[in-house]
Amino acid sequence: MKTLHKISDLRAELNALKNKNPELKIALVPTMGNLHDGHLKLMQQAKQSADIVVATIFVNRLQFGVGEDFDKYPRTLQADQQKLQSVSVDFLFAPDENELYPQPQNFYVLPDENLQGVLEGKTRPIHFRGVATVVLKLFNIVQPNCAFFGKKDYQQLLILKAMVQQFALPIEIFGVEIARADDGLALSSRNGYLSESERKIAPQLQQTLQQLRQQVLTTSEKNFANLVENSKNALQQQNSLWQVDYIKICDKHNLREIQNLENGVNTNDLIILAAAKLGNTRLIDNLEI
Ligand code: PAF
Repeated sequence: MKTLHKISDLRAELNALKNKNPELKIALVPTMGNLHDGHLKLMQQAKQSADIVVATIFVNRLQFGVGEDFDKYPRTLQADQQKLQSVSVDFLFAPDENELYPQPQNFYVLPDENLQGVLEGKTRPIHFRGVATVVLKLFNIVQPNCAFFGKKDYQQLLILKAMVQQFALPIEIFGVEIARADDGLALSSRNGYLSESERKIAPQLQQTLQQLRQQVLTTSEKNFANLVENSKNALQQQNSLWQVDYIKICDKHNLREIQNLENGVNTNDLIILAAAKLGNTRLIDNLEI
């Protein structure tokens, strides 16, 4: 695997390969590093779909709000390089801030408010603008045929799919299933912020979503408001360290909140999305119904 830090070097490498083989299929896997098995699953799927896999590591300041964890976000380049090597990634592009944002970024991709202003976007108002902007920039630099994102960041995945569609970018976006620890906790770089005792409690979030899913599928209660409220309370009562930001049942195609099973709503189209703070760490998870 070659690690490159400059846009011009990456472009030169990819152009040389494309000159040799114009049919070459390139997959991009953007990350912010501190890689875990979930990221490696993205790389492996990318490898199955393309000739060349380009992984990127860049902690993108634009997607962090004031008071969020930009400064303390773990930067672990050497360990990440070894992990990427182990899954046969071809290129790692790891630019510094000056390379990706030589001037302050004044142009943004602003996702539709219905998609970005809900769920995560309510608590993190500039987040998806920052994500979409950096991902478009990475798409322009790498010009991949396809790109891979985890379903844990489900809202991000939907926004990036919409961006590609609306800007007619010739890139296929793949969503990869959530990787979980044995106890059900969704893998995330932020899990590293949890103390030992918090880590033991953390799977309760996923368990709550499983219980809610079961209730939606079995209950005669057509209105979801009570079920959702009960599941929030149940989680917070399990441990006082939990502070639920949201638990919502949404249409998985457009993130519109669904209040009840009337008007021909099909449970196959639903997804439960949740965010909760455990102590000082904000965790997100979701479950398709
Ligand atoms: O999912 C992430 O790690 C980031 O939001 C992404 C897509 C790499 C953009 O910075």
